[in-house]
Amino acid sequence: MEITIFQCIIVTIIALIVISLLWLSFSVKPKLMELKQAHVVITGGSSGIGKAVAAEVLKQGANVTILARNQARLQKAREELQQYIKDKDNQKILGISVDVSHEYTAVEDAIKKSTQELGPCDILVNSAGMSRAVSFEDTDINDFKRVMDANFIGSVYPTRAVLPYMKERRRGRIVFVSSQAGQLGVYGYTAYGSSKFAVRGLAETLQMEVKPYNIYITVNFPPDTDTPMLTEDKLNMPRETILVSETSGLHQPDEIAKIIVNDAKRGRFQSYVGLDGFVLATVASGMSPVASLMDAVLQVSLMSLMKAISFIFIANFNSIVMKCYKERESQKQK
Ligand SMILES: *[C@@H]1O[C@H](CO)[C@@H](O)[C@H](O)[C@H]1NC(C)=O
Repeated sequence: MEITIFQCIIVTIIALIVISLLWLSFSVKPKLMELKQAHVVITGGSSGIGKAVAAEVLKQGANVTILARNQARLQKAREELQQYIKDKDNQKILGISVDVSHEYTAVEDAIKKSTQELGPCDILVNSAGMSRAVSFEDTDINDFKRVMDANFIGSVYPTRAVLPYMKERRRGRIVFVSSQAGQLGVYGYTAYGSSKFAVRGLAETLQMEVKPYNIYITVNFPPDTDTPMLTEDKLNMPRETILVSETSGLHQPDEIAKIIVNDAKRGRFQSYVGLDGFVLATVASGMSPVASLMDAVLQVSLMSLMKAISFIFIANFNSIVMKCYKERESQKQK
């Protein structure tokens, strides 16, 4: 009898703790950001994931600025994106031609111009970037800098330019598009992967600095996505890179865009695609922020299981590399 009462008390206490943690997690969670009154700025907005994000936020009622280098492609994207506008009187698409990784003052001017036209930026999506898949020794020595500039500096400059406006208004979301190659080392991506690891480091560090200002960071880790960038890169891609990347499948830009927009609205730090994206995100989560108690519980309880699964993936990747190596060696002998 006494034991039963004792057990009841324990169970009640545990239930109270769980409920209060849940309550806490929902109350500290960032508020959902609606897009109906929002201005979304997208770099690399004239193609690939960037253009798909533009289409998605237009469908949800936002004003959009797309930043891209090539004037002709920018114009073409603007025309193409018109069809997604829902409220013609209240939604606009602004296109500004700028290289976001070249000169900081030019990026600052572009952001200033977009602020004058459509108001301060509520969500910045850093989607501009370039890919390079070659083995370390075959990589043009200048490409390490080039890729780092395009992917890392190209994310730093626009972020730096919008941040003062966001801090002043105590409102903002910043999205970084990293890659699955920014969560684990993949053959052929010594330049690209390193720059995407850097993007993740930037995201995680910046989140700690801007949280008091109610600004939330999202870092997306897309798998292979069917974009012009990938098609071009595949022409010279090592066989190892193709075979390893293929294990995650090929995804469409609008699928990735939907996930990015949804996660940014919710202020989720990690943003991933599919089941293997979830496994990778869990294994690679380290001390990354979590946006909900649910994420925390999942990561704590699944980390070691996911690590075990990762050995299977890695063993498979290594056997692909070994097979390609042997094929190359035997061809050399012929
Ligand atoms: C878009 O910007 C214009 C200002 O140019 C503003 O009048 C309008 O309300 C904005 N729409 C949205 C959806 O924020």
